[in-house]
Amino acid sequence: MPPAPLSRSGKSRRTTDSPISYFIQKALETPGLISFAAGLVDEGSLPVEEVGAAVAGIVADPLTGRAALQYGSTQGLPELREQVLQLVCDADGVRPSDVNLTADDVCITTGSQQLLYLLGEVLFDPGDIVITEAPSYFVFHSLLQSHGAKVLTVPLDEHGMRMDALESLLERLRRSGDLARVKVIYTVDYFQNPTGLTLAVDRRAKLVELARQYSTNHRIIVLEDAAYRELRFTGADLPSVKRFDPKNEFVVYTSTFSKPCSPGLKTGYALMPPDVMAPLLHLKGSHDFGSGNLSQHVASRLIASGAYAKHAEHLRNVYRKKRDLMVQALETEFRDFPAARWTVPAGGFYVWLTFDGIDTGPDGPLVPAALEAGVLYVPGQFGHVFDDTDSVPNNECRLCFGVATEDQIPEGIRRLRKACAAISAGKREKVKASV
Ligand SMILES: Cc1ncc(COP(=O)(O)O)c(C=O)c1O
Repeated sequence: MPPAPLSRSGKSRRTTDSPISYFIQKALETPGLISFAAGLVDEGSLPVEEVGAAVAGIVADPLTGRAALQYGSTQGLPELREQVLQLVCDADGVRPSDVNLTADDVCITTGSQQLLYLLGEVLFDPGDIVITEAPSYFVFHSLLQSHGAKVLTVPLDEHGMRMDALESLLERLRRSGDLARVKVIYTVDYFQNPTGLTLAVDRRAKLVELARQYSTNHRIIVLEDAAYRELRFTGADLPSVKRFDPKNEFVVYTSTFSKPCSPGLKTGYALMPPDVMAPLLHLKGSHDFGSGNLSQHVASRLIASGAYAKHAEHLRNVYRKKRDLMVQALETEFRDFPAARWTVPAGGFYVWLTFDGIDTGPDGPLVPAALEAGVLYVPGQFGHVFDDTDSVPNNECRLCFGVATEDQIPEGIRRLRKACAAISAGKREKVKASV
């Protein structure tokens, strides 16, 4: 007799496999395929020697070796929390005291992903509302689904999340009495995953102002996901949204060593108000009572030795070159294809390609045509959610130039153009057959 069925939690039943697992699997299974799908970092520039030297330095002295190989604390290595605080404040051109922050307001996490998840555990009950950009980071959407949160979206333009639209949405929610359920406004404000777009400075200030204005019953938290901030390769850095929260009340800022250093370290960090930190640490205590201690010691050494800053500088050159190769290839291949347009990111590793009249969705014709041509992208549809107001666009693609090699980038775009041509030819055939 088969065993009785498993009785799963509501959360487990709400949690499904990531929609892009299929695409990652396809990339692994198909030899010769050029993948612009997975958001992985450049392989060749991973800091093997730097991390090797840091680990060797740590274990060279039994005292530091033992400290790194022992459990750490739930909140994270104090030196690293100090360094992270300084890193963010230097980038923002302020002293920690100017923005009411100390190392006690910093938590080291197992990647920034853990922070996104734990903050949800702190704040969301099923049915609570989270406002995100449309499109947004699809793994965050999956996580919201697990928490049972309801997602409402705000459109982007070339300057990031539209504040007029956010204000209208908040006003609408106030009038309908649903403001009480709004917990978080989420933005990936530097070189957004998936569009590559960046939030303009005036909108950063406005975002905090709106959160404050509509926090009538309870505080609406702005969750600033700055995962790609340090990978800017054009123009000057912009102040964080957190910079506009001088009392440390409204904004949780999260970032990571995954992108500007190594995802293998799986070490992220967050700056947050004290009354968010306390419950978050209780949950993190139950979850892992501290992120990987050795990784934290490595990150701390890399920062202290200057290797981290040097490496991030090197990466900016690596990704600038790759961005240029992708944009040049798009210009070359899609010059005579007016139905295509794309973003030119100033950092990070995503280009957002939009077609008029081509269905890029997972069930549309471009996915199989692209696979046939030997290239893979992420259907833009995955970055959208079906909320109350909108249907989901199905004419967009996320192209990641992070992991593809310099040789593969132009070739992959050539293959994508070929796939578009195959679809257009197919359409013409259909029209001919029907007349
Ligand atoms: C926007 C964004 N946030 C957070 C993460 C999580 O990264 P990690 O957990 O490695 O820090 C990613 C990873 O791709 C991302 O794209």
